[in-house]
Parts: sequence; C-alpha cells; structure tokens
Amino acid sequence: MIGNRPQFVKAAAVSRLLRERHDELIVHTGQHYDDEMSRVFFDELGVPAPDRELHAGGGSNTEQTARILGLLEREIADARPDMVLVYGDTNTTLAGALAAAQARVAVGHVEAGMRSFDRAMPEELNRVLTDHASDLLLCSTEAAMENLAAERAAGEAHLVGDVMADVSLAFRPVAEQRSDVLDRLGLSDGGYLAATAHRAGNVDDPERLERLVALLEAVPGTVVLPLHPRTAARLEQARLRERLDAAPNVVLTAPLGYLDFTKLAAHARAVLTDSGGVQKEAFLLGVPCVTLRDSTEWVETVEAGWNVLVDLDRDAALAALDRPRPSGEPPELYGGGHAAERVCDVLDAYTARR
Ligand code: UD1
Ligand code: UDP
Repeated sequence: MIGNRPQFVKAAAVSRLLRERHDELIVHTGQHYDDEMSRVFFDELGVPAPDRELHAGGGSNTEQTARILGLLEREIADARPDMVLVYGDTNTTLAGALAAAQARVAVGHVEAGMRSFDRAMPEELNRVLTDHASDLLLCSTEAAMENLAAERAAGEAHLVGDVMADVSLAFRPVAEQRSDVLDRLGLSDGGYLAATAHRAGNVDDPERLERLVALLEAVPGTVVLPLHPRTAARLEQARLRERLDAAPNVVLTAPLGYLDFTKLAAHARAVLTDSGGVQKEAFLLGVPCVTLRDSTEWVETVEAGWNVLVDLDRDAALAALDRPRPSGEPPELYGGGHAAERVCDVLDAYTARR
C-alpha cells in the first residue's frame, strides 16, 4: 500500500526486488495526487504503475484515514494477499495496517519503530498504532529496534537498514547527471540553502507559520524552498505568501521531482527541513542539516554531529548555520544501500514458514 511522496521513494527500493521473488500488487491510495507529488516519482525512480488507484486524498486525518480504510477493506478482500506491506508513518500506512490486521492478513511495516515521543504529531500516532498491528517490523535503525523492545511490540522485529537510503545512494549519480536544477534556478555549488517545510505542527498554526517565514527571511544568502501543497495552501490562507514572494533571498518553486531535489540538496551549503526523509538524505549526501522541529526520529544524524534541532527558533537556526562543518566523512548509517535486499530476505523467510 502506498499513497504519498515518501512512500513512492520507499517503494522504489523495495518493489523491483520484491517482484523478482513474489507477486506484488500495488495499491495507490491517492493521498498525494498532483503529478509533482506522485507521478514524477513513478517515472523517475521506476516504481511499477499502481494496480489499483483509490483517489482517496484530502480531508482531515480522521476522515482521510477512515475513507482509505473502507476502500482497502474491499481491495484486501478481493486480492486476498499473503501479506500487506506498509511504509512509514502516514494515514495510508495506518489504514493499510489496520485494514489488513482486521482481515487477518499478515502486516509487514517498513520503517517500524521510529519514535519522536511527541503524540501531538499525527505521524507518531500512525507509527505506534501501525507497529502494534504489525506481524513483521522492519527497522531502519538500532534505536528503532530498542523502541519496539521497550514497548513490547508483539511482531517479529528485524534490523534491515533504511530503504530510503538505498534510493538516495543509487540515484545520487543519476541526479548529478540528469538534473539541470542548479542552472535552471541560477545556483552555484555551495552558494545557497535548500529548505522544505510541511509538518502540520509548523504550517497549520498561522503564528508558527509566521515564525517559519521570519526564519527563512533571516537566513544569510539564498534559500530555495520547493513548496509542499499543504504549505502553499496555508501560506495563502494566512496571507503570508506575498511576504515570502517579496523576500529577496527566498526562491520559491513548485515541489521538485526526486532527481532535481537530490541535486539541489547535494549542492546546498546546508539543508533546513522538517521532513523525516530529507534529514536522512542530507546526512547521506554529506550536507549539514538544520531541523525545524524540536524532536527527531533520526537521532543518529544528531549524534553524529550532522543535524541540529532548532524548532522554529530563528536565532538557534542562525547559530546552527554558523557552526563549522562536521569534520570527516559521515559514518555509514542506515544499511549502506542494501536495506531492500534484507527486507525481501525477511519476507521470504516469513512467508516460507507460513
Ligand atoms: C502527509 C503525511 C506526512 C508526510 C507528508 C509527506 C499524514 C498524517 N501526513 O502530509 O506524514 O510527511 O504527507 O509529504 O499522513 N495536497 C495537494 N496535492 C497533493 C497532496 C496534497 O494539493 O498531491 C494538499 C491537499 O489540500 C491536502 C493537503 O495538501 O488536503 C495535505 O495533504 P495530506 O496528504 O493530508 O497531508 P500532508 O501534509 O501531505
Ligand atoms: N522530495 C522531493 N521533492 C521535493 C521535496 C522532497 O523529491 O520538493 C523528496 C525527498 O528527497 C524525500 C521525500 O521527498 O525522498 C521526503 O518526503 P516528504 O518530505 O514529503 O515526507 P517525510 O519524509 O517528511 O514524511
């Protein structure tokens, strides 16, 4: 089950290998539906075309989850799979896990065990609930394994590495070759910051959104912000879009495809983000990251000195950008590009036993 931008990236790592050993049916819930949030990832990363499309995007978290859940019940009854594989921590993830568990179909959760310990985040609820409905818990990190052990999650946990890292490592040279994003935007290597922001906790409250805008205005030099549709809508509603448009140092773009975004991040002086995936990718690209949240699930990036949590504190962000670059190569984390192979090995062993 997939439905939104980070899940298309994760499926890009797993689907190709999975199909060499099993029959895979891809259900796209339609949580993300714009071409630039969906189709471009299938095209660029070679994700197989969805077998079913549910067009279930939009609405509040509760409405959306319920709508997807109802539609998935029928899909699962029709397809009767041996296992439902879900990715990450979104509404699509929870709906997929719950629909499968209710139908007594085994659930595999890729990126299990991640925790921010902040229940105000819709993603944290989705993660915890999905993990406790899952039979196979496929973990990206040691910390995730420890979280699941501490919660006594009933499923079988395996440390496999991070499938997004597989994609990042494999597609960096492709992005380097194919993307002309720096020329298109008139940017030079190391001469700008790359930013993304879309977390509900940062953009839904107009006061927090204003702090985000003020932070971007204050950073030194050019900052490129590909606008997530949630953020674009909230900026309009809060009448802050014009202010950002007028900021001389801020370059706004539509959401970028994976190759353009990877190249943009790889050549940035630093990345500013509230995205989970982008924190990891910055680390893997060897680019310092400033995280616009007060917690992270990707604690290794902070421990290794490549990521600093600043929430929306402008002065803390400026100080973090002023830090000397971490010395040496980033340590190898997240499975070195072989996580999807390990996911498939675990799935093979699990299905063979049943
Ligand atoms: C969702 C996930 C979040 C993840 C993010 C990845 C949940 C609770 N949130 O947040 O964890 O980090 O995806 O990007 O599942 N919209 C469009 N076009 C699109 C998609 C969305 O216009 O293609 C607009 C719609 O107005 C929609 C809103 O954005 O209502 C929010 O989309 P939604 O998928 O509900 O949440 P995200 O903020 O994208
Ligand atoms: N991404 C992209 N274009 C963009 C912004 C992000 O291709 O304009 C990619 C990014 O490289 C990463 C993924 O989208 O692979 C992260 O998704 P997002 O930030 O939407 O979700 P999160 O990881 O926070 O759940």
